[in-house]
Amino acid sequence: MAYNLLKGKRGIITGALDEKSIAWRVALKAKEEGAVFTLTNAPVALRMGQVKELAKICEAELIPADATSVEDLTTLFQKSMEVLGGKIDFLLHSIGMSPNVRKGRSYGDLKYDDFLKSIDISAISLHKMLHVAEKLDAFNEYASVVALSYIAAQRTFPSYSDMAQAKAVLESIARSYGERLGRMKKVRVNTVSQSPTKTTAGTGIEGFDAFFEYANAMSPLGNATADDCADYVVTLFSDLTRKVTMQNLYHDGGFSSMGMSDALIEMIKPKS
Ligand SMILES: NC(=O)c1ccc[n+]([C@@H]2O[C@H](COP(=O)([O-])OP(=O)(O)OC[C@H]3O[C@@H](n4cnc5c(N)ncnc54)[C@H](O)[C@@H]3O)[C@@H](O)[C@H]2O)c1
Repeated sequence: MAYNLLKGKRGIITGALDEKSIAWRVALKAKEEGAVFTLTNAPVALRMGQVKELAKICEAELIPADATSVEDLTTLFQKSMEVLGGKIDFLLHSIGMSPNVRKGRSYGDLKYDDFLKSIDISAISLHKMLHVAEKLDAFNEYASVVALSYIAAQRTFPSYSDMAQAKAVLESIARSYGERLGRMKKVRVNTVSQSPTKTTAGTGIEGFDAFFEYANAMSPLGNATADDCADYVVTLFSDLTRKVTMQNLYHDGGFSSMGMSDALIEMIKPKS
């Protein structure tokens, strides 16, 4: 059921790779709620991925941009304003990648140039986007920025490796820019800390299936799916949440407040 929550709003959605991507689900939901937006991803992902299909469904322009390149991001914002016919009301940052995780390196054996790449791609890219948007005065008042995070920013999940540091930086940037853009232009900046979700990035983490089952058993509401996440993100883009900013918002079925659950006890108690 649609509520027209984003009628008349213009946005930019990053990170849709295939139909499992959280950004893909957000794009479908934003379209359903009446928004117009552009889609973007790294040039290589656009060549290989299925994003053209999504662009067709959403009647959205595809604009390639490597999220680590200020030049690409400048073109992204300029072209988006041109194509959409005005300033931007919402931005989804849905980008994460760790070369160290991809190459299966243990936390004690990380390559530092790759560590820096993880943080550049997964966190500083948010800073670069907001920097470009500010310089171009690209946001409307009460625009809403959402970046996707994970609870490994606060707690240790060993195989999440240097992505834990990337998410901690991402959440911190959201607070710092939330203060700056809020004061300057009433722009909201939040992170949504999502349950483990079966996507390309998610399943690339070693032991993901165990993460997923553990979180599901711990959470009174069960894991939040990518579609659940899309519903939540759309409310954050809407005018119904105009005073929510600088927050890390858990969207995890209750996982972050749990210590132990009956379901987990059942799963791990010794069988007599
Ligand atoms: N899947 C999960 O379990 C989970 C849980 C919490 C948070 N998240 C976060 O959600 C976000 C989206 O991930 P997803 O799970 O939908 O996976 P996904 O693999 O579908 O999306 C990750 C996206 O990042 C893009 N990307 C990588 N490098 C880029 C670059 N240099 N420039 C531009 N784009 C680049 C990829 O092309 C891809 O589209 C990520 O920030 C991820 O960390 C995922």
